[in-house]
Amino acid sequence: MLAAAATSISRDDPLSGLAVGERPDPDPREGWTVVTVRAASLNHHDLWTLRGVGIDKERLPIVLGCDAAGIDEDGNEVIVHSVVTTDGWTGDDTLDPRRSLLSEVYDGTLAELVAVPRRNLVPKPRALSFEEAACLPTAWLTAYRMLFTNGAVKPGDTVLVQGAGGGVASAVVMLAASTGYRVWVTSRSEDKRARALEFGADQAFEPGARLPERVDCVFETVGESTWSHSLKSLRPGGTLVVSGATSGSEPSAELNRVFFLQLRIIGSTMGTRSELAALTRLCEMSGVRPPIDRVLPLSDAREGFQAMLDGDLFGKIVFKTS
Ligand SMILES: NC(=O)c1ccc[n+]([C@@H]2O[C@H](COP(=O)([O-])OP(=O)(O)OC[C@H]3O[C@@H](n4cnc5c(N)ncnc54)[C@H](OP(=O)(O)O)[C@@H]3O)[C@@H](O)[C@H]2O)c1
Repeated sequence: MLAAAATSISRDDPLSGLAVGERPDPDPREGWTVVTVRAASLNHHDLWTLRGVGIDKERLPIVLGCDAAGIDEDGNEVIVHSVVTTDGWTGDDTLDPRRSLLSEVYDGTLAELVAVPRRNLVPKPRALSFEEAACLPTAWLTAYRMLFTNGAVKPGDTVLVQGAGGGVASAVVMLAASTGYRVWVTSRSEDKRARALEFGADQAFEPGARLPERVDCVFETVGESTWSHSLKSLRPGGTLVVSGATSGSEPSAELNRVFFLQLRIIGSTMGTRSELAALTRLCEMSGVRPPIDRVLPLSDAREGFQAMLDGDLFGKIVFKTS
């Protein structure tokens, strides 16, 4: 089968370890099934793997990719949930201490075929194209859990989304705006602030700006450079949900502010299979769709990786297999 794989690791030149070519077809384990991939999307996670983050060298070569939509062995249209839990785990998928994402331990989705645990398949609504469905399982699922599981906010509340141009952040903006939240955003870029307003944000600010009033909840993926502003923007008793730290992960904790104002800080990672199913229904019913920067044949995967490396994109990069 055709696949995009990591064959070696380089911190400074990640694309030197990317191999787009023939790989053996998957040989599914007990309880697993093989999905014929119709579309798969790219994540920063794939570049991190090529840089050696979150992967053991002994696992190489490994097929990259966390996100896919395709056809299962019974002919059903499906979306692949990327969180692989240990055999026998019955709790929240994201809380299994030995969970992995596809492409960390087992071959990933940037291929014509991918083997996954049977329980990881979610029905694909007809209303979503394969390309749209393939964008949901990582960034959009992370946004869904941040907002609806860990956010502890109600429709009508005011939320602040930091770094609104980011993949996870823009998904939070679109989901929050479509479900009745008042959404305020920050972004360093005027273009991205304008785009966030198009996606349904109510007001857009420069990073660090004084807001018209304090907010009920802040959604953080930027980290160090926006952390202090996030804490200062919360009302007493407000909630900060954090799922990433692009600009650095060691901000000043500002503990006096945290305890005196009784702020809640909640970490959030990926989402469960049932949250992915709920996200697909929400997209189907609300009409919200992930923005797609470009669709490329899988054979041109290198072009998509280069665009992500250069930051030359707005929305998801999707690979088609046929
Ligand atoms: N926990 C999880 O399950 C999970 C899942 C997916 C991603 N993540 C993590 O979440 C983070 C964001 O991922 P993503 O895919 O959304 O990344 P992304 O598309 O690259 O977005 C990151 C955003 O952060 C802002 N930013 C970056 N550097 C900054 C700086 N120095 N100062 C201020 N703002 C800065 C930018 O916003 P503006 O340009 O708009 O200012 C940028 O668009 C990453 O750390 C990723 O590893 C975690």
